[in-house]
Amino acid sequence: MTIDFEKASFKDFEDIEGMDPFGRAALFNEYSIYKRGRGQMNYRQLALSGCGPEITLQIPGVSCERFVSMVSNDYLGFTQHPAVVEAAISSIRKYGSGVGASPAIGGHMDFHEQMEQAIARFFKRDSAIIYTTGYTSNSATLQCLLRKADLAIVDQAVHASVYEGCLMTNMKRFPHNNLAALERVLSASKGKYRTMIVIVDGVYSQDGDIAPLKQIIALCKQYGAYSVVDDAHGTGVIGKTGRGALELDDLFQEVDLITGTFSKTFAHIGGYVVASAELINFLKFQSRQHLFSASSTPAAACVIKAIELVDQEPQWMQQLSEKTSYLKSGLQSLGLNTGITESAIIPVKIGSITQNAQICRLLLDAGIYTNQINYPAVSMKDARIRMSVMATHSYENLDAVLNAWEWVVTKSNIKNFE
Ligand SMILES: Cc1ncc(COP(=O)(O)O)c(C=O)c1O
Repeated sequence: MTIDFEKASFKDFEDIEGMDPFGRAALFNEYSIYKRGRGQMNYRQLALSGCGPEITLQIPGVSCERFVSMVSNDYLGFTQHPAVVEAAISSIRKYGSGVGASPAIGGHMDFHEQMEQAIARFFKRDSAIIYTTGYTSNSATLQCLLRKADLAIVDQAVHASVYEGCLMTNMKRFPHNNLAALERVLSASKGKYRTMIVIVDGVYSQDGDIAPLKQIIALCKQYGAYSVVDDAHGTGVIGKTGRGALELDDLFQEVDLITGTFSKTFAHIGGYVVASAELINFLKFQSRQHLFSASSTPAAACVIKAIELVDQEPQWMQQLSEKTSYLKSGLQSLGLNTGITESAIIPVKIGSITQNAQICRLLLDAGIYTNQINYPAVSMKDARIRMSVMATHSYENLDAVLNAWEWVVTKSNIKNFE
């Protein structure tokens, strides 16, 4: 079996016929060396400072050390907010470094309970469960709720954690944000499964666009399907008070499950599901990754402060919105294709995987740290550079990004890449 390293993506190494895992690992290692040697493996960069608008990186072959960082999902900058940092430290002082058990058998502290109450209240609901990652919130919940007799209907652009959650059930995908296609699947599937559940994101992680939730939830009700909205990227960023995409049409009571993460706006790690009290109680005792895995550490109590700050300090959301518009219009005036984003995620569409990698490297050379997004995170011909704006970026930071892109456009005749 030979793989053309120039055209390959990570996906090509997942499962190779006749090759055992160690053989695949050896081949992938060769591929990594090949790509790294050409400056095209711009992942797992070693950071020597915390997440923020600027970051110190150690990258072999790149002379620059201090970069403007466009890779963080800490949209409101709360990971560095003194009140959030203090909340984590004082919780560690009070409770120690870990909790020593899973929630059902000794690891459910009062701060966990408060986190659950705070996130439920944030979405104007009564009940929530927390998990140790946002990924598990989706994967564990869906695995718990959906089995062989059921059907998951997913927007094709949902996060990998949703796909993992659907491994034990039937799954149908519909083209991204395509309501007619969703209705066709619902109509064709009605009556054929024990449960139908539609899973979408609020804000999509690669394009930054928003789901038409009002229409999606209406279709769910019409065809007797449950609805799940993962708003990992919309929370704290979208809606008048930062409640995310559901706030746009006040759908908090209409949706069946809201899932999300504490690793973006809420400045820590962990995730949650907000739903009816019965469903949450079921998950607390039936969802294996919650039941059989240790609870989040005392540092997680800082999430409670971060949730409060969304309301107490609305200036961060305001600044994020202004800075996002500034960067987006600057990129567009350079002739770059930023797609259909409506959030703080700004993609610049490049197309080819190799050219995308080259541009990511050129941006690093210019002191700008961005994400190189390729297949399978997006479709094969849709490679892009992804940037996330933070409320704490300075206009100087954003001008540096625009200057770097201007240089890249000249150097690489980027319009050929569209
Ligand atoms: C839409 C979406 N859902 C879930 C997750 C998983 O969250 P976490 O990284 O906190 O596990 C992510 C992470 O990037 C995401 O983008």
